[in-house]
Amino acid sequence: MERARLAIFVIALGVTGLAGAQAPAAPQAQASGALAPAPATPVAPAAAGGIQGQNIFEVKPEASADPNYAQQTNGERARVQPGNNAPMWRQVGQGVTGYSSLPKSQAPEAGNLIQPFVQYPGSRLTNAGEAWRQVRNNWLIPYGGALLLIVLGAIALFYLGKGTLKTHGVDTGRKIERFTPFERSAHWSNAIAFCILGISGVVMAFGKFFLLPVMGATLFGWLTYLLKNLHNFAGPVFAVSLVIIFFTFVRDNLPKRGDLGWLLKGGGLMSEHEVPSHRFNAGEKLVFWGGVFFLGIIVVASGFVLDMLLPGLVYERSTMQIAHMVHAVATVLMMAMFLGHIYIGTIGMQGAYQGMKTGYVDETWAKEHHEFWYDDVKAGHIPSQRSGKPTPSSQTIQA
Ligand code: HEM
Repeated sequence: MERARLAIFVIALGVTGLAGAQAPAAPQAQASGALAPAPATPVAPAAAGGIQGQNIFEVKPEASADPNYAQQTNGERARVQPGNNAPMWRQVGQGVTGYSSLPKSQAPEAGNLIQPFVQYPGSRLTNAGEAWRQVRNNWLIPYGGALLLIVLGAIALFYLGKGTLKTHGVDTGRKIERFTPFERSAHWSNAIAFCILGISGVVMAFGKFFLLPVMGATLFGWLTYLLKNLHNFAGPVFAVSLVIIFFTFVRDNLPKRGDLGWLLKGGGLMSEHEVPSHRFNAGEKLVFWGGVFFLGIIVVASGFVLDMLLPGLVYERSTMQIAHMVHAVATVLMMAMFLGHIYIGTIGMQGAYQGMKTGYVDETWAKEHHEFWYDDVKAGHIPSQRSGKPTPSSQTIQA
């Protein structure tokens, strides 16, 4: 409607301009029938230069009064409102696919400028591009960001309330090898890739809210561009190391008797003493199966689609939109989960980080945090030195 009015205005301006230039020829222009009957209001006397104005709302009847107006083709519309291409744009907006001589295999969407209508979960029924934008801006960004902030806040509150979980007993000086060099390199490759992915992902998704105002558009643009490329390269490293991590740790993450009790008591986190567990406790097992396995598969698969690494897949815009939404949901959940893991693995628990850094933990740490595992080591069911070469600082314990 707006466009129609604008078009009438332009025509009216042209006609009245002409009329003005040739004044007093205005009645002749009206008589030509190009436009609806002339306004009743007297035409202002021609100004010097001959340009006159006319109130388009007084041009009656409007072209839109025609009952067939909405069904007009672009050609029909051009006759009554030259320059008004609304019928063509309406077709384009509805995702009509036109002819393209490009092969479908190379350019699957060549004949289609704007995608057809679709309703993604949380969006209105509209063009797929706009629907995806609505899901991203109305759901993923605000709720994803809120979840991450809530988790960070909860961790901060827990730390303020509980502080670092300390070992109660005194270190014996006798060490048990908790992680072999292979396990540690797999873990740290994965953790480093995860941090690069997490930071770059957060900047890409939320950076415009907290970095753009501080550093300005140019710097923020370059930073995001750099991080986006880092993200694309770190992704495959993360995927490969995740698979290695999975097979390395899966055996000791299988459910065992005692896990349910551990969960029901919350691991004893709120009391003074931890509930006994095997090599990994039920909390770690939840992160393993929920975060590494389940979310890991979704994050990696959707990431590979976004990186266009899966052969044989037709990469259309809708493929990317769906992969993006799935990726965003799964990565936010994964980050929320691993924020807890990173907290416990660093400032949250004394001695945990040392274990993953050096590979060794003190017997006291083992007994207090993984008592069943410690018992198994003491009973000789699990060797206290699993890798070939003990480091100089490590001392194998005597069973
Ligand atoms: C900066 C990031 C990270 C830090 C500081 C960190 C720290 C740690 C530490 C200290 C441990 C030893 C826990 C114990 O002794 O029981 C551990 C274990 C483990 N971490 Fe991480 N980690 C990080 C990121 C990750 C990521 C991104 C993943 C996987 C996606 C991961 C997967 C694991 C797994 C599978 C284990 C073995 C325990 C289990 O299976 O539950 N970590 N981590």
